[in-house]
Amino acid sequence: MYSLCIFLLVSFSVNTFSTAQLVVNVKTQGGEVFKETITANISDDSVVLEFPQSDGTYVTQLIDFKQELQIFKVIVLGEEELGQSQFQVMCFIMRFFKNNFISSDAMSKLRQKNPGTVRSPEEDRGTEEVEMDVSVDVAGAGILSPHIPHMCALASTSTYASDRDIKLWATQRRELDGDWSLVSDATHHLPTRGVARCADGGRDLSSPCACHYQVCIAWYPCGLKYCKGRDNSGKAVSYRCGIRTCRKCRNFSYFVPQRQLCLWDD
Ligand SMILES: *[C@@H]1O[C@H](CO)[C@@H](O)[C@H](O)[C@H]1NC(C)=O
Ligand SMILES: *[C@@H]1O[C@H](CO)[C@@H](O)[C@H](O)[C@H]1NC(C)=O
Repeated sequence: MYSLCIFLLVSFSVNTFSTAQLVVNVKTQGGEVFKETITANISDDSVVLEFPQSDGTYVTQLIDFKQELQIFKVIVLGEEELGQSQFQVMCFIMRFFKNNFISSDAMSKLRQKNPGTVRSPEEDRGTEEVEMDVSVDVAGAGILSPHIPHMCALASTSTYASDRDIKLWATQRRELDGDWSLVSDATHHLPTRGVARCADGGRDLSSPCACHYQVCIAWYPCGLKYCKGRDNSGKAVSYRCGIRTCRKCRNFSYFVPQRQLCLWDD
């Protein structure tokens, strides 16, 4: 029951602040330690988790609980001697399934007793292979989530989703307001079959290929823990008393028009 002492779900009123931030020292499986910042916005019903990696990439995960959607944004530093721009930004948009992250409300109430402690997750949820087969028109994707246009503004030609997710959202939306044509207008199919893997690419940096990018969230609050106790009358009750923590990776695969845009896939 040690973990119960580490994270406290405080219950004081947070009405005056609609956002709350937690900074956690996280250790990866490879032993690297970095600071992860998790910000909850209750009025928005969203959570943003972000961290820098030692290779200079910066990863941001936004969960839009209202739209049941999550966005992974990756900023990769370019290799200027190879004629790349200084950085590359990609956005990967996926469905978010409830119960895979604590609510924005619970997140905003989370405090740690010893903020300096380096933490490792209790559960490893492995790697999910995710095929991104549509490109998303960022400016028009506000219909999926109002967060996409500003979070992915620098990824106007490199924002991806899966057709299956888009169809599902569209179906849900159609029940709401019948505006499904706007959703399909905002996406374009990408070639998936018969495309060489960028990893097998050889020297030609101008040919199209299937790129991979792996994003690992080394530590996140994936659920609540419940404790049993007794109330004043002696009746058995269960109450929220801490969090469960997890690690999860996603291996995104997606089409790039030039292998130059996928130099890490060697
Ligand atoms: C939280 O969400 C509200 C509503 O969308 C927004 O106006 C506000 O700027 C957000 N706060 C922060 C700190 O992002
Ligand atoms: C990601 O998937 C591709 C193909 O499915 C595979 O070749 C690659 O090794 C995977 N990368 C990681 C880091 O798992």
